[in-house]
Amino acid sequence: MPLVTTMAMPPPATTVCVTGASGFIGSWLVMRLLQHGYIVRATVRDPGNMEKVKHLTELPQADTKLTLWKADMSIQGSYDKAVQGCEGVFHMATPMDFESNDPENEVIKPTVEGMLNIIRSCAKAKTVKKLIFTTSAGTLNVEEHQKPVYDETSWSDLDFIYSKKMTGWIYFLSKILAEKAAMEATKENNINLITVIPPLVVGPFIMPTLPPSLITALSPITGNEAHYLLSGFSDSHSQGTRTGAEKDSYNLHLDRLLR
Ligand SMILES: NC(=O)c1ccc[n+]([C@@H]2O[C@H](COP(=O)([O-])OP(=O)(O)OC[C@H]3O[C@@H](n4cnc5c(N)ncnc54)[C@H](OP(=O)(O)O)[C@@H]3O)[C@@H](O)[C@H]2O)c1
Repeated sequence: MPLVTTMAMPPPATTVCVTGASGFIGSWLVMRLLQHGYIVRATVRDPGNMEKVKHLTELPQADTKLTLWKADMSIQGSYDKAVQGCEGVFHMATPMDFESNDPENEVIKPTVEGMLNIIRSCAKAKTVKKLIFTTSAGTLNVEEHQKPVYDETSWSDLDFIYSKKMTGWIYFLSKILAEKAAMEATKENNINLITVIPPLVVGPFIMPTLPPSLITALSPITGNEAHYLLSGFSDSHSQGTRTGAEKDSYNLHLDRLLR
């Protein structure tokens, strides 16, 4: 009788793409994906800049499972090659410039057009089973009167954002417009879109510079008053604001892919 072995075979390696991979959440996610055996294509704007990518290339498993791909949200077709052949795409990249002098061209257009560029790349690739977009709590609860509970149907009040122009308003606007555009474009292209909405993310970081959200989280200590609202310490917005740390945002993203 032939010997029948019941030992489970490891699943074949799955290829995924992470945009904005050098950033705070992106770099953690890349680390977690490598730990779980994924083949990771990490997009960054400047793969030759060792200061910005060394924390990725030095990760365990990076030498065999990680490749860096040059891509910019403002350039049409920029993500085509990186996405081709991937089963999952995690879209993390975003221009996080709260003090831009040209918000339309430096923040809003790259965020919205970049989102659409990535959806076009997914549509062309025909291999992508899930597109996971990291949006922001700023798409949900920026409004005059805070509700005790927010859910998937909640959207921030655009009139309130335009009238107050509070710190981060351009960023909130860019994420709202990008998410709405993504919902429409993925529907048209029959792409499975999942949006993850983290509140302020804090914790240790593996990127070489202080992550933008830690500037906000530390604002009550550093006295950076402009960031108080974002961190939930503003008197007028504290009630019901979803603050607090996302304990493991990186595992949450991975969980969305596997479901
Ligand atoms: N951190 C939080 O508290 C928080 C909360 C809610 C949602 N989010 C969302 O989570 C995602 C990641 O946030 P993060 O905190 O990790 O931000 P981050 O550290 O600033 O990382 C974002 C990355 O995006 C890339 N990027 C910026 N502009 C780009 C452009 N025009 N084209 C291509 N890439 C560009 C940058 O990488 P390169 O310079 O290497 O290209 C940067 O490292 C974002 O979508 C953000 O909206 C974050």
